[in-house]
Amino acid sequence: MAQEDLFKKIISHCKEYGFVFPSSEIYDGLGAVYDYGQYGVELKNNIRKYWWDSMTLLNENVVGIDSAIFMHPTIWKASGHVDAFNDPLIDNKDSKKRYRADVLIEEHLARIDDKINKEIEKAARRFGDAFDPEQFRSTNPRVQEYQMKRDATHARFVKALNEADLDELRQIIIDAEIVCPLSGTRNWTEVRQFNLMFATDMGSTADGAMKIYLRPETAQGIFVNFLNVQKSGRMKIPFGIAQTGKAFRNEIVARQFIFRMREFEQMEMQFFVRPGEEIEWFNHWKATRLAWHKALGLGDRYRFHDHDKLAHYANAATDIEFEMPFGFKEVEGIHSRTDFDLNQHEKYSGKKMQYFDPEQGQSYTPYVIETSIGLDRVFLSIIAGSYTEEILDGGETRTLLKLPPALAPVKLAILPLVKKDGLPEKAEEILHALRFDFRCQYDEKDSIGKRYRRQDAIGTPYCITVDHDTLNDNSVTIRFRDTMCQERAPIARLGEIIAEKVSMKTLLKKIND
Ligand code: GAP
Repeated sequence: MAQEDLFKKIISHCKEYGFVFPSSEIYDGLGAVYDYGQYGVELKNNIRKYWWDSMTLLNENVVGIDSAIFMHPTIWKASGHVDAFNDPLIDNKDSKKRYRADVLIEEHLARIDDKINKEIEKAARRFGDAFDPEQFRSTNPRVQEYQMKRDATHARFVKALNEADLDELRQIIIDAEIVCPLSGTRNWTEVRQFNLMFATDMGSTADGAMKIYLRPETAQGIFVNFLNVQKSGRMKIPFGIAQTGKAFRNEIVARQFIFRMREFEQMEMQFFVRPGEEIEWFNHWKATRLAWHKALGLGDRYRFHDHDKLAHYANAATDIEFEMPFGFKEVEGIHSRTDFDLNQHEKYSGKKMQYFDPEQGQSYTPYVIETSIGLDRVFLSIIAGSYTEEILDGGETRTLLKLPPALAPVKLAILPLVKKDGLPEKAEEILHALRFDFRCQYDEKDSIGKRYRRQDAIGTPYCITVDHDTLNDNSVTIRFRDTMCQERAPIARLGEIIAEKVSMKTLLKKIND
């Protein structure tokens, strides 16, 4: 299936089965804002818990906080967001469509990479086992031509970004002959900077209201509470502070469903370390975070992407990318932010942001490693990675979400085979016993096959079927979502069997496997 079609199917599946709805839909929606439905919210809560527990249970030196969305406006001046949280935008004069200039260039580079990979794949098919991709890459004239073009454009792009040279960004677009995907023309405006923060007023205008911002990241709530947590929790460096919560960005080029939203949720952790030890910790968190993603069992669809342009305050930065239906895309960023943020807050607030290290007998401003992940993007990666269509023996298509069991919105469905002969009563008895431990669903409508399909579509890992034998032998059939295999089990052991399979502990243990 074409990746574009697959993505469309995933979006409509999310809507049809109560995972994600367009916001304010009856008023024709609100751009790049989405609501989570009855199953979406459960999946989202489970992902958040997986992240939270991995941070605060598996690391005894990481604690959590929940800071307010509204913060003193000077915080955003100190952090650099007021002056520099901008996107370079360019308009196509014919389609009147607005684009991010850097994204247009990145997509152009990705297209060249695709061409190179296609040449290599073609040659691999032609030459068979004897094929050496590295040799082909360094000797094939067509590949070399593509590579030279790519390297030249890439070098100009990195320089233009580092120097914030908007004219050069435009010139790269012109020279690379990048066209507007809608109009197909190269009739571009100048490139302009656009600040992404939403502003609002606090207090009444008569009293002289204060202009405040909706936070564009949760991280600053951690930085400004660094000493509160350190002192009240008697924390010793190295230690981390974790937080999850909403963030807001006035994204101009908002698309790709919940990938780029104007209101979204972040899960961030700032890890405070001794100056000089930051690269060691950066590497530690890089490996730990990749292992967290891989434990989800979605296959080999992750890669690191080191930043071309390091922010002026960072001395290392990488993204973890997931292969979405629209290509490899950033899901998480890991940044070594030096002592920039704490120093800035010290400068703007006039309050010392230093830590006294009892082992070293001196005070210093800690360095910070940040792990920053978008909850909605992980949600999308998990849905995209688990969406499956299977053709069954009779020709029927089975659509299922192979969600990691610990994250599935509903853990088990309890289904009486028929709606009579005391089977519904027996099924409800089982439901009432198990619902304290698991999110269960009872369903007696339609044929058993149709009921299985409904559960497959929302990713329920286990269906429990109550049949006539159950009344005699107190055992039921467990039907497994991924294999459709069935197994007989005594009702008395159901809780223990299911718990082992769906518990967060089972998933958390996989991180270190
Ligand atoms: N504190 C660092 C920070 O905010 P970022 O790379 O701008 O860094 C971190 O954002 C993560 O937040 C991204 O990796 C992404 O998963 C998520 N994110 C950023 N903008 C987003 C948006 N408009 N919609 C959904 N998720 C977004």
